[in-house]
Parts: sequence; C-alpha cells; structure tokens
Amino acid sequence: MKIFPQHFLWGGAIAANQAEGAYREGGKGLSTADMLPNGIFGAVVERKPGDFAIKDVAIDFYHRYPQDIALFAEMGFTCLRTSIAWARIFPQGDETQPNEEGLAFYDRLFDEMRRHGIEPVVTLSHYEMPWGLVENYGGWGSREVIGFFERYARTVFARYKNKVKLWLTFNEINMSLHAPLTGVGLPEGSGKAAVYQAIHHQLVASALAVRACHDIIPDAKIGNMLLGGLMYPLTCKPQDIYEAMQQNRTWQFFGDVQCRGGYPGYMMRWLRDNGIALEITSADCDALKAEIDFISFSYYMTGCCTADAELFEKTRGNILSMIPNPHLKSSEWGWQVDPLGLRTLMNVMWDRWQKPLFIVENGLGAVDKVEADGSIQDDYRINYINDHLLQVREAIEDGVSVMGYTSWGPIDLVSASKAEMAKRYGFIYVDRNDSGNGTLARTRKKSFNWYRDVIASNGANLKR
Ligand code: BG6
Repeated sequence: MKIFPQHFLWGGAIAANQAEGAYREGGKGLSTADMLPNGIFGAVVERKPGDFAIKDVAIDFYHRYPQDIALFAEMGFTCLRTSIAWARIFPQGDETQPNEEGLAFYDRLFDEMRRHGIEPVVTLSHYEMPWGLVENYGGWGSREVIGFFERYARTVFARYKNKVKLWLTFNEINMSLHAPLTGVGLPEGSGKAAVYQAIHHQLVASALAVRACHDIIPDAKIGNMLLGGLMYPLTCKPQDIYEAMQQNRTWQFFGDVQCRGGYPGYMMRWLRDNGIALEITSADCDALKAEIDFISFSYYMTGCCTADAELFEKTRGNILSMIPNPHLKSSEWGWQVDPLGLRTLMNVMWDRWQKPLFIVENGLGAVDKVEADGSIQDDYRINYINDHLLQVREAIEDGVSVMGYTSWGPIDLVSASKAEMAKRYGFIYVDRNDSGNGTLARTRKKSFNWYRDVIASNGANLKR
C-alpha cells in the first residue's frame, strides 16, 4: 500500500489578513490588504473609522485562535501555515523599534500551536505590506524597502527563534506581474520595467531574509513560495510548445533565482529584448546567492496557452488568466480542476531544482449549504482534496521529495481575490456572510472527519 513518508507534515494554511480581523487593534498599522477592502482586484479605498470591510473582522482569528487551534488539533494537524502581519510589528514599516503588542500576539499564537503539537509554518509577507511604505516610499519600487524588510525579518527571527523553525518569505512571489499593488506596492497598470525593478528588490530582500534566518536560527529551514501556474500548450504546434515554455518561465524565473543564486540567461535576454535595464548592484548579486532550503507553492489549477492567443477567450483564476482546457471541468468560480497537473508540476519542479517541495496551498472554493439539521455535506471538497492527494502520493512514488501538505483555508476565511465569505474552503464552517452578518460560530463540516482520518492513516484511506 502506498502511504506518505513517516514525518510528512499535515495541516492547513491561512493568512493574517484573511483570518485575523482586528485590523486596528494592538497598535497595528494599515496594510495594502486593508486598503483593498474589496480584494486584490478591487479599488484602493480611503479607510474611515466605522466604515465596513469584511476583512476588518474577517473570522476574528485574532481573538478566537485558541478555539480554532483546538479544532485543528482535533483533526490531527502536525503543522499550521499562517503569516505575520508585517504592519502589526512595524505599523508604518519604517520604524526603528517594533511594536511590542504585535510581537506579543504572535508569541501567544505560536505558543498555543506548540502546546497542541502543531509546528508553525510562517510566511513573512502574505499579500500585505505596511501602507506607510507604499505612501511614503512607493512600495518595493524603492530600494530602501529592502532594508525595512530585512529589519522586520531579523526582528521576528530573533523573537520567535525557539518557536518557529519553518519559514517562507513572500507568498506567491511571482504574482506581482498580475497584481502589482498587492505584490510589490505599485499602482495597478504600472509598466513592466517598474514592476521588474520592484520584483528585483523583493528577490534581494527574500535572499537577505534567507541569510538572516540561517544566521539567527541555524536549525530552521526557510523556503520561497510560488504560485504554481503550470501552463500546457493548447496544441502540438511547435509555436505553442515554445509559447508554453516561455509562459512557464514567467514563474520558473523566480524559482531559478531563488534556487540557483542569480538571473537565468533567458531572463537576461527577455529584459534586453524589452529594453529594460534593471539596476542590479554587485551587492545584490552577492545577496542573491543565498539559496532557499525548500520550495513551497500553491496549486489550484492549470491552464493552456498558444501562440494564437488572440483567437481565444481566457478564463481567470484569482491571479492568472489562461485559456481553458477543453478536457477539464471547472469549479463554481471557473477554476479548472486538474489533480494530475499537480503531479506533473511537482515533477517539473523537482527535476528543475532538486529541492524538497512543500504544498502549502490547495483546495476547493465552493458555496456550502447548511442543512436543516445544521450539517454541511461537502463531498465535493472531499473528492477534490482526495484526488489531489492521490497525485501527491504518486509524485512521491516518482521520487519527488515532499515535506508536507497544507490545504488552503482549513477554516472558512475571506477570499483574497474578491474578499468574499461565500467562497468557502474550510473543513470548519464559519457563520458569517458577505454582509458581515452571522455569529462567527464554528461548525465541523463532513470533510472535517474525513481529513482527520486522512491524517490519522497517513493517507492510507484515500480512495482511487
Ligand atoms: C492564493 C493565495 O493565491 O489563493 C491565498 O495565496 C488565496 O491568499 C488563495 O486565498 C485562494 O484564492 P481566493 O481568491 O479564492 O481566496
């Protein structure tokens, strides 16, 4: 019988701005996520006291985390991925001293996880940065932000060095090309030259964080985080094959820099061909040599591409637009479901980088119906995760080294793209709707017991 490796990490993944709420408590400053109350692709909104935004309370994880972590422990989680809200620690981003109240909150949170035997997996920046850095410095467009980020990273490494041994730098670092405000703090519609310069600063900052983590917590491991956006050629026409290779390089570029310590030749050529001259100093080149320990990534869907793209309509995931695959079905949100694509992607990443992989996001966003007896029969979610986990197991059999799996949103939370509660990912239902009504009570869905059994059997109970 095929099972998962003995110390495989099982758990779920959430992000501060989609779960915590308490957006102005504990001395926290405003972040890019707060200024986009309608989601990544919404407009920037000037925040006024008393105005409504779903993320301001989110699922109130800030106050309810002990109860939620107890539920995760009941499912047998051995790890939980969450993020630190940078603006809780440095409210404006450029302070010299951190905010003690913010630091103390994460002390309590990580202690609570450890009390339940749950290993924290912590993202330094998950789709948010202090708004002060956007307003006063122009986001990652400014080289100065590298130093502010390094100070923040060093602060949290030093503070949590005995509590957190698994770190990730930037969530979906390759998404800035598609959502520059959330990714690098640049206005939507920014030109490619500006976005790539900001990305360069972020890659340097990521590498400096890797180095700092290795210095401060020698027994920790630190990884990057990629949006796994595997593209298939729409046909076997040579031009489509070439197009797919190029499209895949738009995300592979980030992994290439982070695993190989410098810019690959194809990227230098692309920059030249597009007349983009990045400012890259020799200190930057030195910093970029710091290699990550593992690759973490999200996986929701695949897409197709062709050299004749103008002939086709595209479908949108939360970040990427792609040509739909005629062989695949879609979720209620139009995301194409492709379990085998996960195995392919894992093999591609392993062959390319030979670093352990960690699937830190995967799951199905769906509308859940609460039955008259209060139960939620989410077999569609069970089937989705079952089918993806079977492919993870196959990838392991293929020889891919895999550290663990954290499903996205093990408890319902606010969606990133459109700030919806209606799109639910959880094994735990949260009573709150898009207007903010509801008691915030937590209920176990059918998938709760199913996932508990998957973990307990280390994947032996998955169904073909
Ligand atoms: C990933 C993000 O892209 O997708 C998460 O890292 C996000 O923050 C997840 O929530 C699902 O997207 P959405 O828009 O359905 O929440």
